[in-house]
Amino acid sequence: MSAGPVGETWETVSWVGDSASGFVRLIDQTRLPTEFVRIDCRDVATVWEAIRSLRVRGAPAIGIAAAFGAVLGGQGMVGGDSDALRKGLRDASEQLRTSRPTAVNLFWALDRIDRVADSVELPADQLLDRVLEEAQAIADEDKAMCRAIGRFGAELLPSGHNVLTHCNAGGLATADYGTALAVIFAAHEQGKSVHVFADETRPLLQGSRLTAWELQRRGVPVTLICDNMAAQVMKEGKVQMVVVGADRIAANGDTANKIGTYGVAVLAKAHGIPFYVAAPSSTFDLSLPDGSAIPIEQRDPAEITAGFGRVTAPEGIAVYNPAFDVTPAALIAGIMTERGVIQPVNAASIAATLGTAGVPH
Ligand code: MRU
Repeated sequence: MSAGPVGETWETVSWVGDSASGFVRLIDQTRLPTEFVRIDCRDVATVWEAIRSLRVRGAPAIGIAAAFGAVLGGQGMVGGDSDALRKGLRDASEQLRTSRPTAVNLFWALDRIDRVADSVELPADQLLDRVLEEAQAIADEDKAMCRAIGRFGAELLPSGHNVLTHCNAGGLATADYGTALAVIFAAHEQGKSVHVFADETRPLLQGSRLTAWELQRRGVPVTLICDNMAAQVMKEGKVQMVVVGADRIAANGDTANKIGTYGVAVLAKAHGIPFYVAAPSSTFDLSLPDGSAIPIEQRDPAEITAGFGRVTAPEGIAVYNPAFDVTPAALIAGIMTERGVIQPVNAASIAATLGTAGVPH
């Protein structure tokens, strides 16, 4: 049996204590599925490292961790003037922005923190309280958005369906409930019979380590497959729907998500299976007209040549290790958001759902 709580929700990342002396507590996802361990981050560098090394990962959870992490940058300055505090917050925000490039939720959350820090006129101690309130609001809003995504998405998921998902877009990737997995959790809670095929998700195995773990914990039937089995499973008629999360969605609906997602979308198209993306409005980047400008994170070759410590490639081999790919909007049947399901997926329908002002970045 793997580690962790059964049948209950858990907070992926949270703030403990008051603004002046509290800290960020998060589940160390690199230890799952064998160990359920929380770590406490008491300075900005520790939060930066936790994001960078995927102790906390998944677009919304990264944003929440960074927002709380910025508060740490203001600690120790509450006895001074507000400008010194603002500088501490600004430095923290700038540092945290360098942790990972692709998930726009990171920048969206830190923009919100910066706006409060820069625009609210209060004595230093009260200003830090106000910044912590903003970070907590980001976490609380995420909980509500994910439940709304689940409700809208579950309407499209009939009982008896088998759903394939890639990577982890579950509670561990958000405040506590997930995006793609929210759809499955909601359908399951409604009493529908749902079975999930979880792609293992090379190279860091978020599908097997995290998605399979979460679904098993919450009593949802799940079958783990290697990434290269998805085509065969679809050909055998075993999949009726694909639902994945997103790290950044451009104004036309092109969607960056974990490497391998694009391949799954192509396979779904070839087999006539609807391919859905589930994401909150905080994952849209309306400043980008299409997906070509989405920055794609390149990660350490050792993740491929010596994943989890065992050498599996010859020394000195050339490696290409992009962490994300971009699925063209044309392959996406709909985007499940907290404001409803966007379909067809194009610039006009996205603007109609999110508003032309959209989400500023
Ligand atoms: O590298 P990761 O584990 O942070 O990648 C995560 C994903 O690609 C998720 O699918 C995405 O962030 C959506 S999370 C609701």
